[in-house]
Amino acid sequence: MYAVFRSIGAYIPEKILTNSDLEQMVDTTDEWIFKRTGIKERHIAADNETTSDLGVRAAELAIERAGINSSDIDMLICATISPDYFCMPSTATIIATKLGLDKVTSFDLSAACTGFVYALSVARAFIESGMKKNVLIVGAEKLSAITDYTDRGTCILFGDGAGAAVISASDDKTHAIIDIHTGSDGAYADLLMSPNGGSGSLHDDPLKESACFMKMKGNETFKVAVRTLTSDVVAILKENNISSSTIDHFIPHQANYRIIKAVGDALNMEERQVVLTVEKYGNTSGASIPMAINDIYESGRLQHGDLMLLDAFGGGLTWGSALVPFGGKGK
Ligand SMILES: CC(C)(COP(=O)(O)OP(=O)(O)OC[C@H]1O[C@@H](n2cnc3c(N)ncnc32)[C@H](O)[C@@H]1OP(=O)(O)O)[C@@H](O)C(=O)NCCC(=O)NCCS
Repeated sequence: MYAVFRSIGAYIPEKILTNSDLEQMVDTTDEWIFKRTGIKERHIAADNETTSDLGVRAAELAIERAGINSSDIDMLICATISPDYFCMPSTATIIATKLGLDKVTSFDLSAACTGFVYALSVARAFIESGMKKNVLIVGAEKLSAITDYTDRGTCILFGDGAGAAVISASDDKTHAIIDIHTGSDGAYADLLMSPNGGSGSLHDDPLKESACFMKMKGNETFKVAVRTLTSDVVAILKENNISSSTIDHFIPHQANYRIIKAVGDALNMEERQVVLTVEKYGNTSGASIPMAINDIYESGRLQHGDLMLLDAFGGGLTWGSALVPFGGKGK
């Protein structure tokens, strides 16, 4: 059996938080944010919208576009760092119930901004082993719930949203997922973490509302990200004997325009190959790659058989890349 990336969907909450809005909240400027990150605005979920609500909206579109019934889904993985509830139940289980999926295998996956690539690799393994036939992978984040809006070093970066894809079994290798790399190094854990709110936070009240706020060493994260991403993407292309010029869509995690540009330049990617959504969505962690894939699908750029190169890095540190032909129909 081969695993085929069959469809994509996304949901972007209505409310927009602009750089000018942030100027009213912390000591920053639109000019500084845009110049250092490439971000102009990000979307923020409504107070009564949860991460699972965002995930459900994206998943419904992905299922419809895959041309299958929701009852055909036999596994659901949700990549998130902003779950509805921090310990249990998993957000994947809540999404499954809201979708009316009965007794499906469902679980959350914690790999921060690399979550979608990790979920893709798990889906592929289950399908290629013959254990599952249609795996729904969801990247959903309400990062506004874990963002400290008094910290100008982080609150300018993050936004909310969700993306989802159906990965299906096929006996035809033509458009099968070619390769996926995943890796991690906990030695860099302190670069980007939620230091409170878990069993590791011995000195803080874990029940404080601010317990899960993200803390980041931005400058060091930036350097490690460029180094790790570049070497990982160079390796996956080389191992598969694929030249960067044959990639139709280079879809990096949308963290910072300068990181994307540095990696794209190292790969000699042309502007037309690089998918950019960071300006309008900011960093949506596990949702960023599927939201970007959905963007090119919606605009008609993504066509059947197009070769996508995904790459991501995030807290952990985690990283991953994937060579994925689009096995669905273009819009
Ligand atoms: C966060 C980030 C934009 C900061 O940009 P930077 O160029 O590294 O800036 P620095 O952290 O070195 O700070 C430079 C100065 O800007 C200031 N600054 C930080 N945030 C600011 C803001 N929002 N507005 C204005 N000034 C700011 C700093 O206080 C510092 O001032 P100082 O020189 O007086 O000390 C950048 O490091 C980044 O994007 N890193 C990667 C983060 C990331 O991708 N994380 C997600 C991983 S999935």
